[in-house]
Amino acid sequence: MSLDAQEKYGYFDDSAREYVITRPDTPLPWLNYLGQDEFFGLCTNTAGGYTFWKDAKLRRLTRYRYNNVPYDLGGRYFYVNDDGAVWNPGWKPVKAADVAYECRHGLGYTKIIGSRDGLEVEALFFVPPGENLEVWKITVRNRSNQRKTPKLFSYQEFCFFEALNDMTNYQRTYSIGEVEVEGSAIYHKTEYRERRNHYTLFACTRPIAGFDTSRDAFVGIHEGLHEARVPFCGQATNSLAFGWNPIGAHQIDLDLAPGAEESFAFVLAYVEQGEEPKFDAPFVMNKSVGRAIVAKYSAPGAVDAALAKLKDYWDTLLANFQVECPNEHAQRMANTWNQYQCMATFNMSRSASMYETGIGRGMGFRDSNQDLLGFVHMIPSRARERILDIAATQLSDGTCYHQYQPLTKKGNADIGGDFYDDHLWLVLSTCAYIKESGDVSILQARCGFADHDTENVTSTLLDHLETSLAYTMKKRGPHGLPLIGHADWNDCLNLNCFSTEPNESFQTAGDVRDSKAESVMIAGLFLYAAREMAELYDFLGHADDAKRIRADHAEMLATVENTAWDGAWYTRAYAADGAVVGSKSNVEGQIYIESQGWCVLGGAGADNGRARQALESVHERLYTKNGIVLQQPAYSTYDKALGEVTSYPPGVKENAGIFSHNNTWIHLAWCKLGEGDRALEYYLSICPSAKQEQIDTYRGEPYVYAQMLAGRDAPCFGEAKNNWLTGTAAWTFVVVSQGLLGIQPDYRGLRVDPCIPKAWPGFTATRRFRGDTYQIRVVNPDGVSKGVKALRLDGQELDPAGTIPVIGDGKTHEVEVVLG
Ligand code: GLC
Ligand code: GLC
Repeated sequence: MSLDAQEKYGYFDDSAREYVITRPDTPLPWLNYLGQDEFFGLCTNTAGGYTFWKDAKLRRLTRYRYNNVPYDLGGRYFYVNDDGAVWNPGWKPVKAADVAYECRHGLGYTKIIGSRDGLEVEALFFVPPGENLEVWKITVRNRSNQRKTPKLFSYQEFCFFEALNDMTNYQRTYSIGEVEVEGSAIYHKTEYRERRNHYTLFACTRPIAGFDTSRDAFVGIHEGLHEARVPFCGQATNSLAFGWNPIGAHQIDLDLAPGAEESFAFVLAYVEQGEEPKFDAPFVMNKSVGRAIVAKYSAPGAVDAALAKLKDYWDTLLANFQVECPNEHAQRMANTWNQYQCMATFNMSRSASMYETGIGRGMGFRDSNQDLLGFVHMIPSRARERILDIAATQLSDGTCYHQYQPLTKKGNADIGGDFYDDHLWLVLSTCAYIKESGDVSILQARCGFADHDTENVTSTLLDHLETSLAYTMKKRGPHGLPLIGHADWNDCLNLNCFSTEPNESFQTAGDVRDSKAESVMIAGLFLYAAREMAELYDFLGHADDAKRIRADHAEMLATVENTAWDGAWYTRAYAADGAVVGSKSNVEGQIYIESQGWCVLGGAGADNGRARQALESVHERLYTKNGIVLQQPAYSTYDKALGEVTSYPPGVKENAGIFSHNNTWIHLAWCKLGEGDRALEYYLSICPSAKQEQIDTYRGEPYVYAQMLAGRDAPCFGEAKNNWLTGTAAWTFVVVSQGLLGIQPDYRGLRVDPCIPKAWPGFTATRRFRGDTYQIRVVNPDGVSKGVKALRLDGQELDPAGTIPVIGDGKTHEVEVVLG
């Protein structure tokens, strides 16, 4: 354990794979996620948050009030009444002053321990793999030398499943709430009599001394959660909710001798009734499925076995990639937290966090394709399914629904499509999947277009990829560059929007038909995607197709070099009236980050020195110690010809904020040019683990990347926001694993082509790939950044420029790489 005095709010316990929070009043609520498959919970360091099944909008099980005061109020609460003194192990909501506190955020679980006056209460929250429920394991210990008879009250509020309705439609919701109580189990069954075939179960595995299901009874009408009536008076009322706000609260009376402890659990489950009859009698639901769940987790050892399964689950997943290298931040993030965050972004896309309310956005087309890049090495089969789900929301003309709902898998009509980068990311995710898994059959998988008949699908995933590339080649503007539509990756560069109406969305306003605005970033992304596709065709042996795609690449490359070079960097776009964006001829927004990254990664500037010059311009004009700002100078006034990008105050979000996601493309570009020192320095500038010394400025969780840090134009330079759900997660994993460490899955095997700081003596890594395990040892005797002079597999010399072939015997193989 490394307890560093500078780490004011907590520290990394690397061997336990936990972040330990030592005081509850963190600079912001610090979040963790529970769940890995279909059932998820948000859980902060003070036990705040909520739970849902699959879809935070359509199947929300417990209630949370966003934008609350304080920020994070409502969650999985326990009130302890110890001889009249009322407190919570997680500090909130009572916030008693004399409670000792520790929170351990681990992989898929959060453990909070509070103690006061010799009584210790430990609450451990997790979702067992493969289950649609949360387990809350409680352990109460009497560490005093006197008998103690504390009372414990559980508390959480039920949500009426459809979260928007739950938050807005009180004229109905206050009249529909229904519950049943049987023994220690509380059943939330609102709307079950009519169209729902599912309910929420909240049960205790131990006998209870009472319960409450009416919030008014438990909390009161004029009271807040910090002064809830029942725990303060010490007696549950056995209230049965009829309408209003149903909750689940249990009373547990304990009697603990000095030194004694007792453990029991709560189960919060989403239950689908399936084929079972819905009712045993009028108004009496058939609880057989729920009862079986309670019985399962009441069995001795069941909870601990489920927890052990969770730990195994993560040990196995993370074992696919582990590294030991000279930089502790890169190592810790890559080995544990970054992969963990990639699971969250894969599962949540941008839907449910402390900044995303779970009702606005579902799965993003471009977001989810990118999220896959950091996830595919963990569970390729889930990546395969996701790729096909996403592709099925593409339309036959090549455009895509920008978002879709995870429950229905249908495109979201409110936001629609016409973001002309979306389709290209599908090429990146598919190629990454095939390189990882070797499974080319996905290309022939039947996958319909969203505007076609869903029966008798004849199109394949390969058709989607071809449609995507063809669309960009076809939809080009006056300079031959791709049209931008509503926006490209930068959602806020809205060149066809011209909005003067404050109540409309920048993302959907404006008519993109017949528009002429063009994007250099999409051109760069196309270059990259086309090269990926050509290499895929090479691998498949389709020489003609590879040649055809390479011709498109060459044409686009010439267009970029002829129309988008501004003298020292690549421009960003051409506006609807043909005006250049991201040029020295502009007053503000002269240089943008995205086009430098993608043009270089797509192969522009490789032969004429422009790639290096573009990156040097980034270094000179955009790089700061907290990361690379999106553009400079920041926009000071709203310009309707550019859209939302000029709406933000200077220094935040897309207006000269440090948007971590796009920083990673520059990291990879430096790796491409062989500059390992720059790549690591840039990486550390946005790495949360490296921010602990400035944590009161940074404010965000030290264990997950943030979507953005405030740029130097902002008064709060370096402050993190929108933590957790960001494309940064997947891309930083690509940066560290494939860029710096250079361990790259390829069609025919694994490549190892590191780009490290010159001072690194080397590193070792374990990579599971297509069933085999590679123990990789890289040595750097000449102190270089890049270049492999010898490559050995199990002692045998291989071509240093080549690929390590797939052996496929399921065994461990030694790889030795000598740089120089
Ligand atoms: C947000 C969006 C992503 C977009 C980015 C830049 O992170 O989720 O789709 O590319 O902002 O605007
Ligand atoms: C805003 C944000 C951007 C995000 C978009 C999603 O424009 O600035 O980051 O992608 O909203 O709708």
